Amino acid sequence: MPAADLVCFNPDCRKRCAIDAVLYTCPRCGALLEVANDYSRADPGALKALWDKRRASRAKIDVSGVWRFREMLPFVEDPAQIVTLPEGNTPLFDAPGAAAYAGIDRIQFKHQGYNPTASFKDNGMTAGATQAVKLGMKRVACVSTGNTSASMAAYAAAAGLQPIVFIPRGNIAYGKLAQALEYGALTIQVEANFDRILALVRELAEECGIYLLNSLNPFRIEGQKSIVIELLDQRNWQAPDWIVLPGGNLGNVSALGKGLRELRQIGLIDRLPRVAVVQAEGAAPFYRYFHGGGGYEPIREPETLATAIRIGDPVSWPKAAGEIAATAGVAEAVTEQQIADAKAVIGRCGIGCEPASAASLAGIRKLVAGGTIDPAADIVAILTGHLLKDPDYVYRYHTGRLETPSGGKIASAFGNAPVTAPDDPAKIAELLARWSGDPLSGHGAF
Ligand code: F0G
Repeated sequence: MPAADLVCFNPDCRKRCAIDAVLYTCPRCGALLEVANDYSRADPGALKALWDKRRASRAKIDVSGVWRFREMLPFVEDPAQIVTLPEGNTPLFDAPGAAAYAGIDRIQFKHQGYNPTASFKDNGMTAGATQAVKLGMKRVACVSTGNTSASMAAYAAAAGLQPIVFIPRGNIAYGKLAQALEYGALTIQVEANFDRILALVRELAEECGIYLLNSLNPFRIEGQKSIVIELLDQRNWQAPDWIVLPGGNLGNVSALGKGLRELRQIGLIDRLPRVAVVQAEGAAPFYRYFHGGGGYEPIREPETLATAIRIGDPVSWPKAAGEIAATAGVAEAVTEQQIADAKAVIGRCGIGCEPASAASLAGIRKLVAGGTIDPAADIVAILTGHLLKDPDYVYRYHTGRLETPSGGKIASAFGNAPVTAPDDPAKIAELLARWSGDPLSGHGAF
């Protein structure tokens, strides 16, 4: 018997289903499902010792920053079925420049862009792809703003599955589209936004016997919770005061919240950090729900240059609401300008990230200014994707050509345009002598 079940997330239903049922929502009430793990015999001291010991191992599943913690993912009985590239093992950076920008004493960035396909999706996809193999599925599919499709395509290719990717036409960053093509996914660009395509693909999956690997798949969430397991391991099991992350479809906040609750249940941490989820103002249905007092209302035409989080009807919002409540967390929203500047600041720390990831730092800055986060707090922000996912955005920002979705100007406060030089060593030497170390405007440097 696997030490896990599928359970309905709705507290009034809690229907239990077999772990190997091909289900994404509850057959009784339609709510999202989650994997329920039995930790009644888990010993925190023994787990820490075992996980430490695995660091010296060369076995693939021990090298993975997800499966090293496999006692918290007990749905796999046969390790030979695990699909790993290997993922996780992402760094934790100190970034004094970013802390100063946000008005706080100190910040750590957990950079998920250091994963094999350069986003946090790999932590979840290794688990989702493994479940697909366990179930004997041949075809896997996802709807994506780009990173899920890149990740799914890679893991499917590695496992010999056929990947089918649905993306909103014209609205994903080229780095991500390039990955899906290179890894061999059938890539279908649909003339609709993410929310509409997800509804369409949920219908198709059932009809065509395709295994869905969007974050409504509970095994994706299981894998993704390893981000906080690894984070706490790196911090010697000292919980921070805050964990801050961007929110789109809200799978990640759901996963991190579940991971934190389970770590506390086992006794690996003694308190829950507060979780803050940050959305882009033009795509902020969860922020509106959190602050609105009324019910949840999707946004029909979400807009943001941070295309990864351009989502108006996040499928995991009920889970996210539960996790934010459980951690006394908050939801925040930030402007396009705030995201762009925060992103450039993260770049100047020598770290870099894609636009959606920078919403976390922009959100911290706003939450500090508004008095919600104490400047002396111990804060970890999750950087979800790599700088090179969206180079077009970067180039536009630094050359003063970035515009909001409605055509408004984005000021390049931290811009760093390239300088064109004549073939003349004397002129270049003269420029270098004049250069203070700060970025030049790029225009009229000669
Ligand atoms: N940051 C990045 C870089 C993302 O790609 C996403 C989501 C998020 C943040 C938000 O995470 O959806 O769990 O709240 N990208 C998905 C995709 C939707 O299709 O790649 P979330």
